[in-house]
Amino acid sequence: MSIDVQAVRRETRGVRNVTHLNNAGSSLMSRPVAETVVGHLRREEEIGGYEAAEEAADRLDDVYSSVARLIGAQANEIALAESGSRAWGAAVYSLPVEPGARLLIGRTEYSGNVIALRQLARRHGLQIVVVRDDPHGQVDVEHLQRELERGNVAMVALTHVPMANGLVNPATQVGRLCRAAGVLFVLDACQSVGQMPLDVEALGCDVLAGTGRKFLRGPRGTAFLYVRASVLEQLEPVMLDGHSAVPSGANGLEIRGDARRFESWETSVAGRLGLGRAVDYALALGLDAVQERVARLAELLRNALSALPAVTVHDGGVIRSGIVTFSVRGSDAGTVRAKLADHRINVSVAPLPSSEVNAVLAGKPCAAPTVVRASVHYYNTEAEIQRLVHLLR
Ligand SMILES: Cc1ncc(COP(=O)(O)O)c(C=O)c1O
Repeated sequence: MSIDVQAVRRETRGVRNVTHLNNAGSSLMSRPVAETVVGHLRREEEIGGYEAAEEAADRLDDVYSSVARLIGAQANEIALAESGSRAWGAAVYSLPVEPGARLLIGRTEYSGNVIALRQLARRHGLQIVVVRDDPHGQVDVEHLQRELERGNVAMVALTHVPMANGLVNPATQVGRLCRAAGVLFVLDACQSVGQMPLDVEALGCDVLAGTGRKFLRGPRGTAFLYVRASVLEQLEPVMLDGHSAVPSGANGLEIRGDARRFESWETSVAGRLGLGRAVDYALALGLDAVQERVARLAELLRNALSALPAVTVHDGGVIRSGIVTFSVRGSDAGTVRAKLADHRINVSVAPLPSSEVNAVLAGKPCAAPTVVRASVHYYNTEAEIQRLVHLLR
């Protein structure tokens, strides 16, 4: 079924104010999501925070089932967190590693992840190996295969949809290789979740992190972590509290057996309920329909931009996402963004992801923004895209 664009726009108040093409930054929340968050805050105001949480206990529990359904997992494999980076790091920092082990990453790995891996590498004497890109700019699976064959790999980390360059990495192929090699596969799905169907079985990942505010259209400060049940026991969280473990015996501890071992006790209940509502909203629309519309709008934008003589589109990949990156001859990315903001068009700026990874690995600050990033969602319209192109022209 295709998406009823007018209906979803009626449920998205922000579209009356702005042309929002910064969905890879943070999408416009739908009204049901905003009402869920605000509604819970009101209950906290009216009856008390703990009491409101108790009242919402069943709905809170449903959030785990919803997230699990979204990615083809079981509810006990889901933890909730306050950011994609925290979710990803909760699992990755817990990985048991031996000095000298190798961490394989793609060239488009999210730069924040690479910072974390550098810390782990420094702390435990690990080696970060960057797998080459193929001619399309995606992770080169043949090179990955060769690196896996060399052995001593503690983990493969891949960013499914990089933050800026339009492509979707071939995660399923990577998952297949990791499974065959018996190596843990960590997938950063922060930019893919909410804009395309995800299935952890098909992807073959052991760990997957997603954030709420981007294509899922959840509230800020929300995220989730998936950890495959069969690897949960191998990953002892680096931090515990009374929610994740209980004392046992003289000096012992019993750590929870489910993925909630990675959570902290205190959290924004309103945020979590809002995340659950956003997941249900996406599921009701259907992720196939979402992907179809997002891909079509993004391709429309790429084609229109490519026809402008002063504009260069930078996107690579065989399969493309809703993220479109470009530069305008004679204007830096920040100026383009500011000029579009004057017309209430929201875009963002970014360095190309591979330049970020290179900078982090070279021990330099992350590269300066060089491209404009316009990221579309299903509630955007063809007319909004034409407006952007018209202004650029
Ligand atoms: C690909 C990717 N991974 C991870 C993150 C981090 O997510 P969060 O900001 O929720 O920590 C981002 C944020 O931009 C991202 O683009």
